[in-house]
Amino acid sequence: MSDTVFIGMDLGTSRTSITTSTGVRTTVWSYVGYALDHVSRKHLGGRDKVFGEEAVENRMAVNLVRPLDKGLILDDEESRQAVRDLLEHIIDEASIPSGSTIYGVIGAPAEASVDSKALILSTASEFMDSIIVCSEPFAVAYGLDFLSDTLVVDIGAGTVDLCRVHGTMPKPEDQRTHHYAGDAIDARLAELLTKNHPEAQFSNNMVREIKENYACVGTHMDPVKVTFPVKGKPTEFDITAELSEACFGMVPPTVEALQDLIATFDPEFQQKMRNHVLLGGGGSQITGLSRAIEDALVEYGGGKVRQVEEPQYAGSNGALKVALDMPEDFWQEFIEQQSEKA
Ligand SMILES: Nc1ncnc2c1ncn2[C@@H]1O[C@H](COP(=O)(O)OP(=O)(O)OP(=O)(O)O)[C@@H](O)[C@H]1O
Ligand SMILES: [Mg+2]
Repeated sequence: MSDTVFIGMDLGTSRTSITTSTGVRTTVWSYVGYALDHVSRKHLGGRDKVFGEEAVENRMAVNLVRPLDKGLILDDEESRQAVRDLLEHIIDEASIPSGSTIYGVIGAPAEASVDSKALILSTASEFMDSIIVCSEPFAVAYGLDFLSDTLVVDIGAGTVDLCRVHGTMPKPEDQRTHHYAGDAIDARLAELLTKNHPEAQFSNNMVREIKENYACVGTHMDPVKVTFPVKGKPTEFDITAELSEACFGMVPPTVEALQDLIATFDPEFQQKMRNHVLLGGGGSQITGLSRAIEDALVEYGGGKVRQVEEPQYAGSNGALKVALDMPEDFWQEFIEQQSEKA
């Protein structure tokens, strides 16, 4: 029998990460760029497609596809093909010995529909022998061994996923999703900049970079000054207020969802849970966010909010741990279903 390699994958709107039982971990921005014509193919060094950051950097020379939106694979042929190509690419990058049996756990948004999970399964089944789709925030908690009375908040690009973890696999009532995540901050920031500084010229990519460098909430924010061209001339703008407002937009819906998950939990354990809130995902790196959420929780009885240490890999590391602990029966079930379909 061939060796089995387990993989944990975080298939994200903005970034896809993989962690393998062979000790590899790697991440790629969830973008695929397809050559437009023979000139662009030459520009790409003879390649038909490029991935991740390289695709974004070459966006003028390629058809740039971002196949996930709000945590889900977009429902069109181009996006399905791009997810397929992205999975092929990242599994390739993981250098799994050929001939291995691959068992994978893939994280999906907490409230992903049955249809979107089915789409992930069918796309990934081309590259893996058996697959389990698991709630992304649950994977984060599992990876950190926080299995009891914890609230995980996974702040991604497309979705903020919240999950109540209390010693079992989470059920739908343990999870909430809202959409004021990283992409929504970018969109709000761009909207405020256009309104307050109509003369400034900027792209979505520039806005996202500014956010990633300076994102902050709270009253003690250092001034944020950036340079945008105005009619082609580099000009400095103070965007502290706009950035703070765009980032703060995440706090109310997150606190509302947290409070809802706490209030509907066993009253004896509510206090413990509110004191064990864990922030993960790229968006958890907004400076001052834990504090802002704690402040907003005060009116509901307070709470303690902490950040995970490795936001980039917390999802895929956790998914790998779920995979390693999964009984063989579960993997076989998928394999049997596939062979019935064939
Ligand atoms: N330092 C930072 N400060 C604020 N936001 C950041 C920072 N670094 C990355 N981000 C944002 O985090 C988001 C990406 O996070 P993550 O990689 O967890 O998302 P994802 O898993 O791809 O998305 P989703 O979980 O919604 O499918 C992006 O919006 C990105 O701009
Ligand atoms: Mg994610």
